[in-house]
Amino acid sequence: MSAPNKSYDPVEVEALKPEEIARRRDEALTAIAAAGDLEALREVKVAHTGDRSPLALANREIGALPPHAKADAGKRVGQARGQVNQALKARQEELEAERDARVLVEEAVDVTLPYDRTPAGARHPITTFSERIEDVFVAMGYEVAEGPEVEAEWFNFDALNFPPDHPAREMQDTFFVRGAKGERDGEGSGVVLRTHTSPVQIRSMIDREPPIYVICPGRTYRTDELDATHTPVFHQVELLAIDEGLTMADLKGTLDHMVRALFGEGMSTRLRPNFFPFTEPSAEMDMLCYVCRGESVGNPDRPCRTCSSEGWIELGGCGMVNPRVLIACGVDPDRYSGFAFGFGIERMLMFRHNVEDMRDMVEGDVRFTRPFGMEI
Ligand code: DAH
Repeated sequence: MSAPNKSYDPVEVEALKPEEIARRRDEALTAIAAAGDLEALREVKVAHTGDRSPLALANREIGALPPHAKADAGKRVGQARGQVNQALKARQEELEAERDARVLVEEAVDVTLPYDRTPAGARHPITTFSERIEDVFVAMGYEVAEGPEVEAEWFNFDALNFPPDHPAREMQDTFFVRGAKGERDGEGSGVVLRTHTSPVQIRSMIDREPPIYVICPGRTYRTDELDATHTPVFHQVELLAIDEGLTMADLKGTLDHMVRALFGEGMSTRLRPNFFPFTEPSAEMDMLCYVCRGESVGNPDRPCRTCSSEGWIELGGCGMVNPRVLIACGVDPDRYSGFAFGFGIERMLMFRHNVEDMRDMVEGDVRFTRPFGMEI
């Protein structure tokens, strides 16, 4: 047998020497252990297992070995590469677990923090209170009626029996709107911003056949300066009932029911004679003071700020519909009679909620509306 050919002996190929392979394997294992994050580990992987890595290059040398030497060298390199791959896999899992744990902490959501940072709005108390009044009457079978805010002077004044020279028609009280073609300005145009909701009475009678039961809340305009007790844009609610045999007693009962529904049991109203062109007889209506219930009257020990110890709060006007108005609307005054009332919503709200300045109610500051909450 010939001596082994030294040049084919694997130990003679530098890269395949056991110590050399162990050194390269150890270098790889050290680098793997030192990789601090997944990015660094990726670089270590390329350097120690890629095509140009020392162990891959050593592996290529095996091909040139004689068959008997291949197995031995192949086993050594294979084992080293296997250890490196295993270490890589283990470190990869370790770093992934670390990353997941870190993400859980860093991206944690504190579910106890307030989540809704957009402040909730609130409907304006004028809206909610108007709706509440509507509800009281809808429950009694009334219908909600509406009319335009830019109104013909005829509906706002003439049909309601205001004489042509009535002072309410003058420009210091009424906003006149320029005529449709702009040819006539202001007073005399025949078009106004409605000064009250009473024109809706006229429209309701023209549109409907009796019996008629309508409640009409809406925006109204007068040329007042904005101050603590006046506003040029305000709201009224109008009521009209037309039927056979209606009397002042029906009006009084309806008013009493309304104040009880809005302010509570034990409330009542009283009527004082007054004049309105569209009602005959006409009355001013007062409601019992809902705070002292009249107990402050003549009782200096229990003064009431809400009614100035008068016991009553003025609400608005009312009366039996003037037959002249019925005739203007084509309703037979011999067969039908009716009652009506109208009052200011802002004023009623001021009393109900002790609002001292009307301006707070119209300026739209959310700090005013918010305490009324999401009342529906
Ligand atoms: N329209 C009147 C005003 O604005 C209020 C009023 C009084 C309405 C008597 C009525 C009524 O319906 O009968 O001052």
